Amino acid sequence: MNAGILGVGKYTPERILTNFDLEKMMDTSDEWIKTRTGIEERRIARDDEYTHDMAYEAAKNAIENAGLTPEDIDLIIVATVTQEANFPSVGNIIQDRLGARHAAAMDLEAACSGFTYGIVTGAQFIQTGAYKHVVVVGADKLSKITDWDDRSTAVLFGDGAGAVVLGPVSEDKGLLSFVLGSDGSGGKYLNLKEENDKLYMNGREVFRFAVRKMGDASLEVLEKAGLQKEDLDLLIPHQANIRIMEASRERLDLPEEKMIKTVQKYGNTSASSIALALVDAVQEGRVKDGDNLLLVGFGGGLTWGALVLRWGK
Ligand code: UT7
Repeated sequence: MNAGILGVGKYTPERILTNFDLEKMMDTSDEWIKTRTGIEERRIARDDEYTHDMAYEAAKNAIENAGLTPEDIDLIIVATVTQEANFPSVGNIIQDRLGARHAAAMDLEAACSGFTYGIVTGAQFIQTGAYKHVVVVGADKLSKITDWDDRSTAVLFGDGAGAVVLGPVSEDKGLLSFVLGSDGSGGKYLNLKEENDKLYMNGREVFRFAVRKMGDASLEVLEKAGLQKEDLDLLIPHQANIRIMEASRERLDLPEEKMIKTVQKYGNTSASSIALALVDAVQEGRVKDGDNLLLVGFGGGLTWGALVLRWGK
């Protein structure tokens, strides 16, 4: 049984925080942020708007878009690092709110690689025939753990959620190959500081790691799928920094129009970044039946994940 995407959904908070707003909050500039990262603005959730609220909206939209009801769902996987409490999980909370009474639910932590890990995990249940419909959500409220006194990280992140419904698709469609990886020795470069529960990052080290791994993992997953670079229709990379994304695109010899870019409007939204980019691409009509998509991400852990997916049912 092949596992593919039957529906997509997203949620982004209403409040927009621009680079010009940040100029008033800290010693930074629109020019610095734009040239170093590609980011122009990001969405910031309300104080009373939590990761599970965003995850719920995205999942609800994805289930509707798939033409299903919550009762059709067998499993909910939420990739996140910003749950309000260790348990109950965001998965449990939204399972109840959705009324998905036949669904099992859990959270999965792989930081910004979480959505790729989630799709690969969910697909296993479909491929074995154990489950028919799996919702995978990438949701994070990074503003909650952003250290607003650290300009080198505070300008990078945003909040949001994206979701897909996975289900059985025809033989030549769906997930064709994947690569997942971990290098825990790099955990010191990107983590939650114990003293204040805020994000710490050594930007230069993460940058170096990201450029290397995004390229390597992309080429590896392409080969595993038995495809050539020219067979690729769309690259959907983790939206952390336009310079890292461009390096991946160049390793794959892809023209600009084949890479989905949302970093300018959402910033780095962690586990939801690739999900939001995919949903926007679908909603803008940029994904066609039979297209070969390459999703690739990296993040805290350190972790990385890449997968090739042929679009359609
Ligand atoms: O999903 C998690 C993934 N994380 C990432 O993708 C992050 C990967 N790393 C990066 O994207 C980049 O390393 C950054 C965007 C974080 C930083 O860019 P950079 O080109 O590596 O800059 P830098 O850290 O080398 O800093 C250059 C200068 C420094 O000033 P001096 O020492 O040269 O005088 C910083 O103090 O830029 C300064 N700087 C800023 N200036 C204005 C750092 N942050 C800011 C800021 N505004 N927000």
